[in-house]
This record gives sequence, C-alpha cells and structure tokens, in this order.
Amino acid sequence: MKRTTPVIPAEDVRRQTEYCAQLRALNAEKPAPPLAYVDTYGCQQNEADSELLRGMLCSMGYEIAGTDQGADVIVINTCAIREHAEQRVFGNVGALVHGKRKNPRQIICLCGCMAQEPHVAEKLRQTYRHVDLVFGPQQLWRFPELFRRVYLRRGRVFETAPSDGAIAEGLPVRRSGELKAWVSIMYGCNNFCSYCIVPYVRGRERSREPEIILSEIRELARRGYKDITLLGQNVNSYGKDLEGGWDFPRLLEAAGAIPGDFLLRFMTSHPKDATEKLFDVMAGCEKVAPVIHLPFQSGNTRVLQAMNRRYTREQYLDKVRALRARIPSVVLTSDVIVGFPGETTEEFEDTLSLIEAVRFDALFTFIYSPRKGTPAAEMPDPQTREEKSANFDRLVETQNRISLEKHRSYIGTVQRCLIDGAGKDSRSSLTARTAGNRLVHLNGDSSLIGQYADIRITDCSTWALFGELA
Ligand code: SAH
Ligand code: SF4
Ligand code: F3S
Repeated sequence: MKRTTPVIPAEDVRRQTEYCAQLRALNAEKPAPPLAYVDTYGCQQNEADSELLRGMLCSMGYEIAGTDQGADVIVINTCAIREHAEQRVFGNVGALVHGKRKNPRQIICLCGCMAQEPHVAEKLRQTYRHVDLVFGPQQLWRFPELFRRVYLRRGRVFETAPSDGAIAEGLPVRRSGELKAWVSIMYGCNNFCSYCIVPYVRGRERSREPEIILSEIRELARRGYKDITLLGQNVNSYGKDLEGGWDFPRLLEAAGAIPGDFLLRFMTSHPKDATEKLFDVMAGCEKVAPVIHLPFQSGNTRVLQAMNRRYTREQYLDKVRALRARIPSVVLTSDVIVGFPGETTEEFEDTLSLIEAVRFDALFTFIYSPRKGTPAAEMPDPQTREEKSANFDRLVETQNRISLEKHRSYIGTVQRCLIDGAGKDSRSSLTARTAGNRLVHLNGDSSLIGQYADIRITDCSTWALFGELA
C-alpha cells in the first residue's frame, strides 16, 4: 500500500532553490544586504512556517531584521482562528502603507491562514493595495517562485485558490532558537469541529515520512537542542495516510530512542484519538516530557456534540483518569470555549465542574468567535455578550485559583529544569522551565543558560514559580 496523500516531487522543490539562487545573485549587486522582516501571528505551526520563510529569505540573500523599520521585504504570517486575531492583522497591515509610501520598492507579503479565506483575499485585493503578494499556507513551499514574480515587477500576485495541500521536503529553515525547536510531523486537519476555520484554511491531514522526521530530530539532538516539540493540529492522527503501520505513539517512541540530552513534547492532541497506547509510551519513555495539552472545549456533552468533537464529558474524564493512572504527576493543560452558539449558562456550569474535577495546571480560555464558512457560524446564538463575558470571568477566576493551588504544591520541591533565558528583573535574572513546562524565575549567572539544573521552588504566583539553584 502506498501513502494516500500527495508529496511534491523533489525536482519541483529544487526549482524553488534555483529561484532563491537567482534572487541571491540579484541582491548581491546591492551595496548592502537587503533586510527582510517576518511577523508571525497564531499557533506554533505558524512559528514553524515562519522559520521556513526566514530560511528561504536567507537563501535569497536577505538579512533577517527584528523590526519592519527599514525592511526591504515584510512578510506577515497570519492567523484566522478568531475575529480578534484578524483585526490585529488588518490594523498592522494597514499601518504599513506609510512605510511603503516612503519606500515604494518595499515588497509586502501576506501569507498564513487568513490568506486562504476568500473574503479576506478579496478585501486585500480591493482595499489593501500596498500588499504585493498574498498566498495561503499550502503554497508556502512556492514562496521563492511567487516572490520572484513580484520582485521582477510583474504586478501583484495572489495565490489563494482552495487547496488540500501536499508534503514538501528539503526547504531551507532558519530556526529562531538554539535550545528549543519545532518539528512539524503533519499538516492540515480533517476533524471539522463546527466552530473551527483550520480545516478550511490548512487543507487535509497529511503526514511527513517518519524517516525524515527522525533524522531531523537526530540532527537537532546532535546540534545540542534540549527541547523538541512535535507539531500537528492533531498529532494523534499521524500516520493514517502512510504505509508501514506508523502511528503517533510509534513515532514518539522512535524519537525517544534517539540519543541525546533533550526532552520531547507534542501539540496538539485531540482527546478522541488520545489512546492508552500513547499514554503508555509517555509513561515508558524518559525523553517524553510528562505533559500533555488535551483541549476539552466544553464540559457538557450536548455542546460537545454540537461542536462535532466526537467524545462525551465522561469519555474525556476517562482519558484523564487513564493518563493519571500511568503518570500521576503529569502536567495537564487544555483549551476551552465559552459562549458556543446555543450554550446555556446551565451547560456552562458543566464546563466549570469539569475544571474542578480535572484540575488542569493551566487553561487557554476563549470566547466563541464566529468564523465565516463554518457550521457554527450559522447556528442560533441567543446568549448576550454580557452573559458570555460573565461566564468567561467565572471560568478565569476558577482556573486562576486552581493554577495557584497547583503552583503552591511545588513549593519546597526540587525540580530539574532547563534554564532557557534571561529574566526581566533583579529578583529573577534567569528563566527556566520544569519538565512539565512550568515557568520558573530564579537568580543566577547567565552562563547557565542552556543547561539543566536542579532548582528548589521557594515561592509562586498564579502564572509562575520562583526558585533558587539547589
Ligand atoms: N488543533 C487544535 C486547536 C487549534 S486552535 C486542537 O484541536 O486542539 C486552538 C484553540 O482555539 C482551540 O482548541 C479552541 O479552543 C480555540 N478556537 C478555535 N476556533 C475558535 C473559535 N471560532 N472561537 C473561539 N475559540 C476558538
Ligand atoms: Fe480545529 Fe478541531 Fe481541527 Fe483542532 S481538531 S484544528 S479545533 S477542527
Ligand atoms: Fe491560527 Fe492557522 Fe494556527 S488559524 S491557530 S495560525 S493553524
């Protein structure tokens, strides 16, 4: 049996490398290397995509800048998950018109999930005429080709037709960190949760070949990366389109067998596909961090059904029990939506009670935002904004109390942490992360950055732990 999702032929990817080389030659004629700035919105998947965009821009002879000021090229990698995210992008893209007036040769590109929404592409075409290039996530691997078309002044380029997407390997990457790395293991989503835009803008689920993923991790480990996160909209669907019987637990186990002093994490797990086999691998593999992000979205089974999540409240609680039976101290985080169309305050109480029952370490809380083209956007939504906000506030209050209680239980313990950066004030000149990814502030010499250290936890807040070198 062959894989069931398409792979871009190597020669097509190689052609992109040739376009990069051509542009590099043109840029080399300039008195100084031109500057490119990539601005990223949204999830880790987009962060990983931006590392590819920067890799391609470097291959084209650009130097990566930390700001849009004075940049010859600006790339905005956008997110469409909620209205608020889109408004921010429109505001910031609108403001770029002034810079472009001063420097008409500047090239402005907009890519990512918003570019794939037909009404957004139309709005950019009509009213944001200073944007030169617009392309969706499935066209990312063709960035050099599309960019070259604009560079050679052939007018504006829009590459936003709907696309299921494919796998493209061999693109250059420029990673942002030297300690932590993202590794995409799959792209797209087939779940069609009724509120969510992602399946419409990111195409169908498709998995990268396990050998390619594992050799990328091997290389990262060899280069001293300490923290590697495997990425996918639903990593638990990994391998369904591959031959050879690969699934996510098997991939995770194989990654965990790679030598080196690093921890593995993964995002995101859909509860319906989080299996006991996965929990067994997490429990049995020292390199897999004892942490899982398992979005529950709602604690009420009717709402879950309307969301098309395909699990019940009880099934979610059973998964948590099965996980904690194997890893009692596992750090558990989640996403939740308040104010889904038709949700009553009584149904919302089930969300609160689920939070009390599970006691998550941290929660990402969202007020429902209608997304054009999704089924939920057509559902009756009688609850007022005020009711939703009041429920949202209760949710945040409840979780803050639980987060603080959970953090208090760390006080007096010693945690092996990765010291990962400089802190912001004198009380904490360094930041670190526990294996479960809790933030720790401490004092110490900056030469410790990049090392593991035992840290005694002495204090905490709702959002962080405070400690000292043990
Ligand atoms: N693939 C991931 C989620 C990606 S989106 C998963 O299934 O877990 C991240 C979170 O944004 C979701 O878990 C959900 O809680 C929230 N979200 C998605 N669409 C939303 C919408 N229309 N309104 C509000 N929150 C939304
Ligand atoms: Fe969206 Fe659901 Fe897919 Fe997550 S699993 S990306 S919430 S459709
Ligand atoms: Fe946003 Fe696209 Fe990620 S919509 S959350 S950037 S997949």
